Amino acid sequence: MTGFFREAEAFEALTTIVFPSIVKGRSPGDAIRVWVAGCSTGEEAYSIAICLMEFLSSSRHDQPVQIFATDVSDAAIETARAGTYSENITPDVSPERLRRFFSKVDRGYQISKQVRDICIFARQDLTRDPPFSRLDLISCRNVLIYLGPVLQKRVIPIFHYALKPTGFLLLGKSEAVGSFSDMFAALDRKHRIYAKKATPSLLRTDFVPIDLATAGGAAALPATATARDDLEVQREADRIVLAKYAPAGVLVNENLDIVHFRGRTGAYLEPGSGQPSLNLMRMARQGLSLELRTAIQKARRKGEPVRKEGIQLDSSGRNRIVSIEVIPLKVRTGGGRYHIVNFEEAASAPERKAAVIRPAKLRAPDREIERLKKELEATKEYLQSIIEEQNATNEELKSANEEILSSNEELSSTNEELETAKEELQATNEELTTVNEELQNRNLELSQLNNDLNNVLASANIPIVFLGPDLRVRRCTPMAEKALNLIPSDIGRRITDIKPNIHVPDLEKMVLDVIETVSLRERQVQDSEA
Ligand SMILES: C[S@@+](CC[C@H](N)C(=O)[O-])C[C@H]1O[C@@H](n2cnc3c(N)ncnc32)[C@H](O)[C@@H]1O
Repeated sequence: MTGFFREAEAFEALTTIVFPSIVKGRSPGDAIRVWVAGCSTGEEAYSIAICLMEFLSSSRHDQPVQIFATDVSDAAIETARAGTYSENITPDVSPERLRRFFSKVDRGYQISKQVRDICIFARQDLTRDPPFSRLDLISCRNVLIYLGPVLQKRVIPIFHYALKPTGFLLLGKSEAVGSFSDMFAALDRKHRIYAKKATPSLLRTDFVPIDLATAGGAAALPATATARDDLEVQREADRIVLAKYAPAGVLVNENLDIVHFRGRTGAYLEPGSGQPSLNLMRMARQGLSLELRTAIQKARRKGEPVRKEGIQLDSSGRNRIVSIEVIPLKVRTGGGRYHIVNFEEAASAPERKAAVIRPAKLRAPDREIERLKKELEATKEYLQSIIEEQNATNEELKSANEEILSSNEELSSTNEELETAKEELQATNEELTTVNEELQNRNLELSQLNNDLNNVLASANIPIVFLGPDLRVRRCTPMAEKALNLIPSDIGRRITDIKPNIHVPDLEKMVLDVIETVSLRERQVQDSEA
């Protein structure tokens, strides 16, 4: 359940605390951006729009306002877009507001164009779709309670990300930011108004695109071979029966191009002159096209079969009275709109005989007047249907435009996120380059030291062996090679595995002692030649 100015005190708090802060020091063209998340049928978004407009005009500010209102329910968004509400809203909306921001319509009130124009409605799932960005205010009231703790934890950081550094968050009476007090500071605890804190936004970016698994998916599954055979047989049977008993007719697509002929349609259709065409309107015989067009428009609009009788048709020099029936085809997989158009001779049905006979009894001028009257009537009907279709198309275009605006916002939000990620990557890259340079310098220094050490060792006339803590030989001087009987491949071997030219029975213990105590040990020893 939602309503206009639900929990009215919260709206007063917006006007006294939040809006003055939003407009403070703002440049004139800088639009105020609001997101009403989980807007249901639009009352909350329109209430905020009204409060904001009242505030701006009373405080003599002239800021543009954009209110993005989203909900996961398509039906709710449709209602919100229409902006028409029943008379039950009068207890919640003051007479002054009703006069200023609504217009009276049949059994209700419609939100005025000035309010409607600043509200953009779109379907959006808070938990799955990318958010808007650079917002001054997010109102998400009585939605978190539906989401449960896990999704709430996902949504609050999204709000933090979507707000400007000076942005505000408004929640419902029984909702709170919970454990995210590092992201939001309570500004008005009673009315659940929070101010964004300047902590880095940790936005999760695993938003998923629109779910493509549709109901048609099941229908698209391949049928088994037996089922396919049964279907073929059934279709063939239908085809034979239809060819024998069904009225002549055609199947037309969205553009009124004939995609299938059934029965003998020659009495009603003929190829037109000029370029070959299968368009029904170009093929219809004289006197039939206007009626056909009107009937198809009507069937399209209403989504139900439309029948027209007593149409006078001039075919092969013969005056005939025919009936047409247009049946919309319900195609499950959304491949466009198809219609079946059936033609019938009026004489075939007894109750239609009168229609054939009556015109015949009339005098020729009267018959002509009768025909012209009918034609005029059909033209009027056709024009009316075109006007209605045009209105519907306009509405659709308006909705599509709003969807595009909303998608645009989402894209620019994602783009900003990517920009930030790119900047972060560039910074990390910069850091890596610096560390790399540092390492290269160290490498250079090390290799110089190594060279120096090698030179010292090569020229030293003393036998020296360097051992690691594991008693493996690391390096040795040429004199040591001679004295200890070492060869280059001994580098890396344990000293105790090598049989030296000198006799030191407790060499291992001695070396371990030195390593442990880090002190010198000296011993006089004899080589094998004494
Ligand atoms: C009780 S209504 C609140 C309406 C309005 N905010 C108010 O307080 O008057 C909750 C709305 O949240 C919407 N909602 C629930 N889960 C949502 C989601 N994941 N994303 C967007 N809207 C959601 C529902 O469709 C419903 O319209």
